[in-house]
Amino acid sequence: MKNTVAEFIKMKGEGRRIAELTCYDYTTAKLVERAGVNAILVGDSLGMTMLGYSDTLPVTLDDMIRYSAAVARACSETMVIMDMPFMSYQTSVYDAVANAGRMMKEGRGQAVKLEGGAAVTEQICAITDAGIPVQAHIGMTPQSVNVFGGFKVQGKGEAAARRLLEDALAVQEAGAFSVVLECVPPKLAALISKKLAIPTIGIGAGAGCDGQVLVYQDMLGMNTDFTPKFVKKYAAVGETMTAAFRAYVEDVQSGAFPAPEHSFAKSDCSDEYLAALDAEF
Ligand code: KIV
Repeated sequence: MKNTVAEFIKMKGEGRRIAELTCYDYTTAKLVERAGVNAILVGDSLGMTMLGYSDTLPVTLDDMIRYSAAVARACSETMVIMDMPFMSYQTSVYDAVANAGRMMKEGRGQAVKLEGGAAVTEQICAITDAGIPVQAHIGMTPQSVNVFGGFKVQGKGEAAARRLLEDALAVQEAGAFSVVLECVPPKLAALISKKLAIPTIGIGAGAGCDGQVLVYQDMLGMNTDFTPKFVKKYAAVGETMTAAFRAYVEDVQSGAFPAPEHSFAKSDCSDEYLAALDAEF
């Protein structure tokens, strides 16, 4: 099944939930697509998961394009959504359209994502008018970590809850085809999901959303650092990888690897010729 914007709206109408995962490279994207994930988000979280920054702010447009293009080359069914990095759309509507256009031309995904509610509706409107689907992102928007004073739950309290619902309605009105709700109290996220015609994709926002997204290294248990409370670990891939790396080190050190079956014995020269080379040099 080809995952399109129209399909996502249909899924919401039919009560079918959308599974979205982050991914940043070709090999992993092949596996994610094979598993039947509906959308891959090439998130600017790659700044942390792939590049080792402490937040997403240093990620550049070139970074996003390079990783998006690798993922897009692996996908034929999965929708590839590309995150617009910090300061690639906040500066002006013109910048937003030009940069989204460059991401589509060079990154080759099917949609872009950007953070913010009512404050970025002009950008969402203009990008959508240019023929580029936009996934919005409200609640805990990591590019504003310095305003929030940390990665904190948003929408707490009555005024904040109202603002978040207004933001959700504003991005829908501006033309977004879906909206990520990050770190939002579950009852509020369920109410927002009920009020919107477009799908909500939750991360740390409870089961009342129309879909979910997780960072793949978190859900695979690859993270050796901090794991957020809302993550369910589906595997202990980090431990499996470390054990395999350790076994490789031991095999190399002991000489157990490579064994004869890992060598190209058939193409070897004759023993006589090798003996002659040995004598000559
Ligand atoms: O960059 C990212 O991975 C994201 C998700 C956490 C929604 O924005």
